[in-house]
Formats: sequence, C-alpha cells, structure tokens
Amino acid sequence: MRKKTTVLVIGANGQLGSVLTKSLQEKYGCDRVIASDLQPKEGFEGVFEVIDATDMDRIQEVINKYDITQIYHLAAILSAKGETMPLITWDINMKTLFNVLEVSRTNNIEKVFFPSSIAVFGEGAPLEHTPNNAYLDPATVYGISKAAGENWAQYYFLKYGLDVRSIRYPGVIGYQSIPSGGTTDYAVDIFHKAVLNEEFECFLEKETTLPMIFIDDVIRATIEIMEAPLEDISVRTSYNLAGTSFSPLELVQEIRKLYPDFKVKYNPDYRQDIASKWPDSIDDSVALKDWGWKPKFDIELMTTTMIQKLKEKYKIDIKNSKALML
Ligand code: SER
Repeated sequence: MRKKTTVLVIGANGQLGSVLTKSLQEKYGCDRVIASDLQPKEGFEGVFEVIDATDMDRIQEVINKYDITQIYHLAAILSAKGETMPLITWDINMKTLFNVLEVSRTNNIEKVFFPSSIAVFGEGAPLEHTPNNAYLDPATVYGISKAAGENWAQYYFLKYGLDVRSIRYPGVIGYQSIPSGGTTDYAVDIFHKAVLNEEFECFLEKETTLPMIFIDDVIRATIEIMEAPLEDISVRTSYNLAGTSFSPLELVQEIRKLYPDFKVKYNPDYRQDIASKWPDSIDDSVALKDWGWKPKFDIELMTTTMIQKLKEKYKIDIKNSKALML
C-alpha cells in the first residue's frame, strides 16, 4: 500500500522555504509537513524539527520519526555570500546534498526536490534566451555547486532510480520573506525601501538585466514539477524556468509609476561581476513542453502586488510595534 505523503522541508526558514512550507501545509495538512532548519523560527505554526543537514544521522532520525515520503532540500549558501567563503560554501552545499540523496536512496524516499539556479550559467552560455542544454561554466562557488548538484541528481536517478526533480530558479521576489546572500536580493530590498519612502542604494549597475520570478509563480512551479507524472520528466539535471527579466533601471521606472519621487543611487560592488556573467533571459520551453510551465507575473503585476502586500505588512508591523509599546 502507498504510504500517505509526508514531506520534509530542509531549509524551511529561508526566503523560499518559509513560503513553500505554508503552501505544502495547505496541500497536505499541517501534520504532514515537517519543517526543519538550523533553529526554530519564531511564530512558526506547524511541526518543526531542528536539522543541521550536514548531519546525515539527524536527517535519518527525522525520517524515521515521521515516516517521511518526500524531501524538499532548499538549504544552501547563495552566490554572493558564497564568494566570501568559497571552501565552506562548497562543503556545505555539497555535503547537505549528498546527505539528502543518500538518505533518500536508502529509505526509498518517493520524490526529492533540489533547486538549482541561473547561477549554473557562465560566459559559455548565450545571454539571451539561454537554452536548457546550454554549456555550463559557472563562475561562482554557488554556481559550481549547483551545476555539480544537478549532475549528481541525474546520477542518482539513472543509477538508483531516485526520483529527484529540479528547477533552475531565477532571482526570487517575494513580500513574505527577505533573501540573504544572493546577487538578486536587491530586487526585494528595493520594494521595502520604496514603501518606506527611503532612498535605495543599488549594488548592481542600472542596465544589468537578470531573470527574475515572483514568489507565487515559483511556488506554483515547484509544486507543479513535483506533481507531474514521472514519465513527463525528461530532464533529470534541472529545468530552466522563466518568470520575467528586468534591469534595476526598468524596475525603478516601474516603481516610480507608484512612487514618482523614489530616489535611487547606483553603487556597484563585487556582486556586479557575478551578475554580469548570468543570463539576461531564459528559454524555458522544455518545462512548458514537459509539465506545462507558464509564468503569470510580469514586471508590472509583480510590482503592484509587491507594493500592495508590503504596504499591508508595514501597516501591520507598525500596529504591532505600537501595541508592544503600550
Ligand atoms: N538568487 C540566487 C542568488 O542570487 C540565484 O539563484 O544567488
């Protein structure tokens, strides 16, 4: 008899993990989703286990305790932070992935999700409409770890039949959580500054176009690929995924439709070198063909949604802080 789906999310406190965990709870029920991270998150509602994913025994304990059937492995050190500690980043990103692949193999886990990234692309790939099978020569440790990880995911599928599924995430833009350590983080921070009427200092040049995606789209894509019939998944490294593409300047112009006085200065740093080697736009036609992927949010809808949600959030935050002060 097929076991009831019970999901373990590793890296549940992160930008994506925190939002994905909620969607999975809605789908499978709160008691069927086990959130995990290095420490518990304040205010989290649901089942939570502390897991350091570099510790395989600890992952095994949690699998045993809840009879886990699916794992979403979201923990990783991202591109910008990774460049400040290359060897530690390689160790952590690869060790955690191997632990997840190995426990999944030995416990007959039904499905594993492993996110890859646009960071797998380097100067050998075309910048525009980068195809799924483009040459991979990543220039960051994070990108190298993801490119290697994609190949290991495929290896576990081919050699052991482990059903690992993967998407190359663009920069993720969401209102619920704050990213940290990434090169695309500016595109979240900028909205907070706009809504708070503060000046924004951008660490990328104004013309640097990057592939981005709104959080609702990326969560939907993640759940859709995991739900797709096994025989429809033809790519066992990782699928390209497109949302929308824009430069800081284009985003500022969009935000200024709502905040005409929004002030921005450009002060590019080492993250500019990372961004310059990533694609401007992504060809995700293989994901469309295999499991019907279509994004819903363009830059305009993303901007109006971000601003509306952040306005609500800050109103709530202001109310809460007032209540605390009384
Ligand atoms: N958002 C990630 C980063 O900037 C890319 O996957 O590192």
